[in-house]
Amino acid sequence: MDDTLRTCIEHPFSQSAAPLSLYISDHITSPTAVVMPVKRIVHVCHAHGAVVFVDAAHVPGQLRPNIQDIDADFYAGNLHKWVFCPRSAAIIWRNPSRQHAWFRPLVTSAFEHRGLHEAFGYEGTKDDIPYICAANGIEYINRVGGLEKINEYNSTLLYKGVTYLEEKWGTKRLQVPDSMHSLYQCIVALPFIPGFSDFKETPAVTQVFMGKNLELQKLLLDKFDVQVAVVYVGQELMVRVSVSIYNTMDDIIRLADAVLALTKTEALFISDAGFIRVF
Ligand SMILES: Cc1ncc(COP(=O)(O)O)c(C=O)c1O
Repeated sequence: MDDTLRTCIEHPFSQSAAPLSLYISDHITSPTAVVMPVKRIVHVCHAHGAVVFVDAAHVPGQLRPNIQDIDADFYAGNLHKWVFCPRSAAIIWRNPSRQHAWFRPLVTSAFEHRGLHEAFGYEGTKDDIPYICAANGIEYINRVGGLEKINEYNSTLLYKGVTYLEEKWGTKRLQVPDSMHSLYQCIVALPFIPGFSDFKETPAVTQVFMGKNLELQKLLLDKFDVQVAVVYVGQELMVRVSVSIYNTMDDIIRLADAVLALTKTEALFISDAGFIRVF
């Protein structure tokens, strides 16, 4: 195994004062869209005696991993991202060869003791409709041509789109090995945007839900009708380009133009209230 990767995975084990018993790893990271080598992560964590939960929220409808082969203790993925289902539809898998008696839902019901399927299937009075729609989401994927065809369309558009943005903006996508690129999402550095790129209090870590990035995300939506996640990666502002079968190059061009408009200082006016308006 690559030494750097092993060092990164082992770091929390060597730094933690108490024994580390649970390790949670994303399969595809959310703000940065990086595919993690989860099988290798699981291997190292198990060697340290830790239980591993793989958060694969972005995997169903995008990748088709061999979950048994990854061998985590738990593996969960959302169906409301790339399987076109309503929110709260998700799958959770428990490794049959690694029994953990404590594994049960936080919200319980009268079905709590009827086995895991029933215990998780009936959580309080939660609406069943998102679960029922799972079959429709899968049926829809097959109707439009199947997962391979969607993979092909999305990854081709993403590659073309990101290359276009790099050329237009004179910036670069996140540099990771090819095997770690997600098929549907990629983050690209933004060009200098006055009022945002020069903001002094940038966070030290990847940041999604607070700060100037969120303000810029809102501005792109409100003024240009472009919905895109804006994230800080270290000190750098980047956008996460996400494509699905309803997107075309026109959407990418619209994003490119909106950002270029924001780079032009004369297009911006900082009001007394500190809001930025585009004229
Ligand atoms: C890796 C990852 N975990 C968890 C979540 C949140 O999942 P949920 O919508 O089920 O709360 C997301 C959503 O973006 C995600 O990307």
